[in-house]
This record gives sequence, C-alpha cells and structure tokens, in this order.
Amino acid sequence: MPAPKAKPYISAITPYVGGKSKAGNATRIIKLSSNENPYGPSPAALAAYAQAADSLHRYPEDGCASLRAAIAARHGFDPAQIICGVGSDEVLGMLVHAYAGVGDEVVFCEHGFLMYRVYSNQYGATPVAVPERHLRSDVDALLAAVTDNTRLMFIANPNNPTGSYITKDDIARLRANLRDDIILVLDGAYAEYMVADDYSDGRELVLNTNTVITRTFSKVYGLPALRVGWGYGPPHIIDTLYRVRDPFNINQPAIAAAIAALNDIEYTLQQVALNNAERERVRRAIEAMGVATHPSVTNFILLAFESPKQAAAINAALLQRGIIIREVINYGLPHCLRMSIGTASENDAFLAALAESLAL
Ligand SMILES: Cc1ncc(COP(=O)(O)O)c(C=O)c1O
Repeated sequence: MPAPKAKPYISAITPYVGGKSKAGNATRIIKLSSNENPYGPSPAALAAYAQAADSLHRYPEDGCASLRAAIAARHGFDPAQIICGVGSDEVLGMLVHAYAGVGDEVVFCEHGFLMYRVYSNQYGATPVAVPERHLRSDVDALLAAVTDNTRLMFIANPNNPTGSYITKDDIARLRANLRDDIILVLDGAYAEYMVADDYSDGRELVLNTNTVITRTFSKVYGLPALRVGWGYGPPHIIDTLYRVRDPFNINQPAIAAAIAALNDIEYTLQQVALNNAERERVRRAIEAMGVATHPSVTNFILLAFESPKQAAAINAALLQRGIIIREVINYGLPHCLRMSIGTASENDAFLAALAESLAL
C-alpha cells in the first residue's frame, strides 16, 4: 500500500518525547524526569475527581465555565478573557494555529521549551531560536530577531530546562520594544514557585498589549495526568482561540479536580515551601560534590558536567541505580542533566546515587 504524502512540514517534525519512567532492571524507581510534584495533588482534588465518576455518562460542560470562574475569582480576571486547554500545551498550540502559518516566524529562546518549535512546525511556521545570555532569555537578542514576518514570541518565565527567569522590568522592556501586533506569550508553567519581588507573570501587560499569559495544573498543583492548563489574554485574542478550540476539550473529572486544587491555597503554599527548601538543600549538596548547577527558581535543577560524555555516563549510572532524570541534548545542552525536585527521601537517594556515579 503506498503511503499517502503528509504535508512536508509535518513529516519534518521531531515529535516531543516526555521524561522516561522505566530504568532497566532497577527494583526501586525514582522518577525525577518530568518536573512533577512528587507529593501529588491536594486531597480535595482527589476527592473531587473521585466524585466526578458519578457523571461519566454525561458530556463535560463545554467551555469550562466553572473552572474559568474559579480561576477568574482567584486572580481577579474577567472569565471571558480565560481559555482552558488540554494542558497549557494546548493553549500554546492554539496560539500558533490561529496566528502563524507558512511564511510566518515564531520567536523563542534557544534553550526554550521544546513545544514552541513543535507547534511552529505543525502549522508550517518558521521557528526562530534566539541565543541566550548565561542561560537566560536575552531581551536585546530577542528584539533583534524580530522581522516583518514575526507573529508570535514565546518566553517561558521561569524557563524549562534552565530554571532561570527574567525580571518584570526586562519583560516590560521587551514588550515596549516589540511591534504591537506581535503576540507575546509568557508561559508561566512554573510561576507558582516564584517568590522573587522583581518577578511578574506579565498579567499587567494583558490589559493594553497583545500579551497572553499561560498557566498549568501539571506542576505545583500535581495534576499532569489530567492535562489542564489555561491562558489569559485580551478579549480579541481569546475570542480567536475559541474558534480553533476543540469542543469539550477538558473532561469533567479534570475540571472538578482543578477547581478543588486551585481552591486549596494552603496546600499549594505548603508545596511551594517544601519544594523551594528542598531545591536549595539539594543544590548545595550537588555543588559540594563538585558538580556545577545553574541557579533555579523552579521545581528542577540543571546540572552542568564537564562534557557531554560525562553527562551521558552519569545519566547511565543513575539509571542503573533506578534514578531517572532528564537528558537535555534536544534542548542544546548535551553536557547537562535536569533533575526534578522529589520528596526528601527521593532527593537523598538521588544524591547518594550521584555520589556513587561520580566515583565510578
Ligand atoms: C515551560 C513549560 N511550558 C509548558 C509546559 C506544558 O505543561 P502542560 O501542558 O502540562 O500544562 C511545560 C511542561 O513541562 C513546561 O515546562
């Protein structure tokens, strides 16, 4: 049977590969490869999810009105300016779908989240990866990369896999110098972990500029299996995104769990405190072993080794010991590995395995 020809820009896509969850023959597996919350969601979210089982024979509410109302109430937004997606990924994809295609350019940072490139490719737009400065988004380089064909610019702030962020002032300068019609997308997948005074997720820019912010329930809220995220933007952009959204995109158990997770503020604050304290403890311990780390404001740490060869050897040795972390070769960082912050005992097991691996 002859294979039908896909559009050439589709055939050229390198599909996204998630973090591994198997490690050879190791009996105890510790998965620190996907920036998940190791403690899982709030008990209230689990209860809401279980209760939703009573209604599996019904279609979900379309348009996520109850979840949008909860998000709007929590953040002081207009629910009409919010769109929910199957993970924040889907919102990023809807933006490219609606605003960029063949001949258009989508700008992002060289070590930026991989899906910006994947979505650009899916819609035939040209991905433009911009050099960073010391593994941080470089405002001047981003502005220099803009051409007449630029339609969208994606910045993860903080960024994955570098763990770095740029300040509210940097973002304001970027927006002020960006052509008005270019949509600036500020991806805040890790925004909840931020405690720095000079940080903003960019919400203040939504009022007067073509800026969209995105958030997820996959990280601090501990619900990646349910795939829920959202975007907040100017009414004309959100209205456009609703035209490319699939009907009933978010399922009802996911809506119920996300609302409960969002409303359990105490649990979320506790998760942030736990993560941030563990992150600094683990970072100091890694550095004490002579391995360089990049400062992180997120729930993961980027470790820099002497060479790609050493990073690969350490990764293999960790895997043999049942510890799964993430290679970041496809992010252009072959000498680095990214580890997600686990529970204290998972982190201890990681540190012990790292010490053994370094001694091999
Ligand atoms: C920077 C960034 N943005 C977006 C996402 C997508 O998250 P989700 O689709 O689960 O909301 C991730 C996931 O790892 C991420 O790291």
